[in-house]
Amino acid sequence: MARTLTLPTPDDFHLHLRDGAMLEAVLPATARVFARAIVMPNLVPPVVTTADAVAYRQRIMAALPEGMAFTPLMTAYLTEATDPDDLERGFGEGVFTAVKLYPAHATTNSAHGVGDLRTVYPVFERLERIDGILCIHGEVTDPEVDVFDREAVFIERTLAPLRRDFPNLRIVLEHVTSKAGADFVEAADDRLGATVTPQHLMVDRNAMLVGGIRPHLYCLPILKRRRDRDALRRLVEIGFPRLFLGTDSAPHAQHLKENACGCAGCYSAPVALEAYAQVFDEIGCLQRLPDFASRFGARFYGLAANAGTVTLVEEAWTPPEQIVVGGDVGTVRPLLAGEVVRWRVADRP
Ligand code: DOR
Ligand code: ZN
Repeated sequence: MARTLTLPTPDDFHLHLRDGAMLEAVLPATARVFARAIVMPNLVPPVVTTADAVAYRQRIMAALPEGMAFTPLMTAYLTEATDPDDLERGFGEGVFTAVKLYPAHATTNSAHGVGDLRTVYPVFERLERIDGILCIHGEVTDPEVDVFDREAVFIERTLAPLRRDFPNLRIVLEHVTSKAGADFVEAADDRLGATVTPQHLMVDRNAMLVGGIRPHLYCLPILKRRRDRDALRRLVEIGFPRLFLGTDSAPHAQHLKENACGCAGCYSAPVALEAYAQVFDEIGCLQRLPDFASRFGARFYGLAANAGTVTLVEEAWTPPEQIVVGGDVGTVRPLLAGEVVRWRVADRP
């Protein structure tokens, strides 16, 4: 008999849904499995104001196929011009679930992000007062800092001082990738949580760079060393309650990744829950998956757990090499395309 695992319907606490044809193509893959997702605001132009988020939420709901249920949890893209009053209004009206800090130029569509953190201290003060969550892309952009060290240096130079200045501000260190990050989160108090992607638990940088360069494993923060991956795995293994599921599924047109200057981002949504199940199983802690995928994140965000369940079956399958997107996007290539995945989400009743 194939093994199965039934868990409460999970949430994705870090997701890029994009817009237009790409949104229509990628949304069903998430809505098939996840009840809710924290939706990243790095569109062009970014989702900055409450009005922007209301409009984007409407476009997401319009793209949701008939009969599917899904709740997008909206985020505000923090700029140096963000108005704290508008943010507070957005939280008060239930539009915003979090604010996202991108250090300027750290990653895809982050040009409008924050250069000098002091300029947004009034926003942090307000968030701390209203208990709004701050999600952080934790990398420095200093050109002198090696790309593999940018998370560790961010923690030392930016995150640690920020936490001292705003001890009651709830922060999510998004897509933690390093031992330095894992150690920092583990040592912190309950105001600091973190998400981790499937790829950062599954592989290290060798998978991307040995025997040929694999652009579909290129994301930011970049894959690190084996010891970094293993520090993240250790937190999963002990059932660390402030580390939770956030895929960072970030689709880009295939030709823009297989390119002389390829974009950062792994499109993991079509295989995400299965990939986590596979790696948890490999670590030997499959029984930890329901908390990680369905409880810890909701608890950190102060959300009720979802009704309903999703069942995983141990059954080999192979994700497609590419998925055709309408409009002028062309195709996208999912994580683990063409590889054997050992767990599969069973069709929901
Ligand atoms: O790899 C990444 N892709 N990291 C990010 O932080 C942004 C994302 C994207 O939007 O493509
Ligand atoms: Zn992201």
